[in-house]
Amino acid sequence: MNADEKKRLAAQAALDFVVEDSILGIGTGSTVNHFIDLLAARKLRIRGAVSSSEASTERLRRHGIAVLDLNEIDDLPVYVDGADEADRDLRLIKGGGAALTREKIVAAVAQRFVCIADDSKLVEVLGRFPLPVEVIPMARAYVARELARLGGRAVWRTGTVTDNGNHVLDVHDLRIEDPVTLETQINQIAGVVTVGLFARRPADLLILAGDSGVTVLGQRD
Ligand code: 5RP
Repeated sequence: MNADEKKRLAAQAALDFVVEDSILGIGTGSTVNHFIDLLAARKLRIRGAVSSSEASTERLRRHGIAVLDLNEIDDLPVYVDGADEADRDLRLIKGGGAALTREKIVAAVAQRFVCIADDSKLVEVLGRFPLPVEVIPMARAYVARELARLGGRAVWRTGTVTDNGNHVLDVHDLRIEDPVTLETQINQIAGVVTVGLFARRPADLLILAGDSGVTVLGQRD
């Protein structure tokens, strides 16, 4: 099975966790694209979606799924999103698709965060994937220097502007033994909008697809 087939398999397994007659949170990326397509094909009865990116919003609308403003919603039972890396405690690196800020907001609102990925994303220690950090453009160089003080080598993702009009730094050379502390430290740097570490609010379920099928980590109920 190739990586894309595994992504589709993980996305398919996540359909079991959709709560019908409620609003569904939808993330961003190629794995989530499979999920959106399968959700539409399965015709599960949902009241609509809140989306973490313009790209997912467009895909949802193409399928005829209503996309709602998060400000209008006070109850979001489930959020489904992918990840760039995950550890066994369901802490994640996200933001490879530059949607990390809206993803973190929707994950914060959701009661249950269901993460879907192919099994290559599972690591023992986070940090092999460069850690994305969304920054206010004028703070980019300053934030890069501060990240160097934390041991990382920040590289500007040139040509990328987030849906919020900001820049992204990808931080290399980190071995993230304590993701909660690092998330807190990076959050405190002036000019940082969001760090793509999801450790203070990890996933609740991690659906990993591999050659032998699907494995679910975390609390099912
Ligand atoms: C976007 C993300 C994605 O969830 C992450 O990049 C995984 O993407 P893919 O499903 O394409 O592997 O965080 O900002």
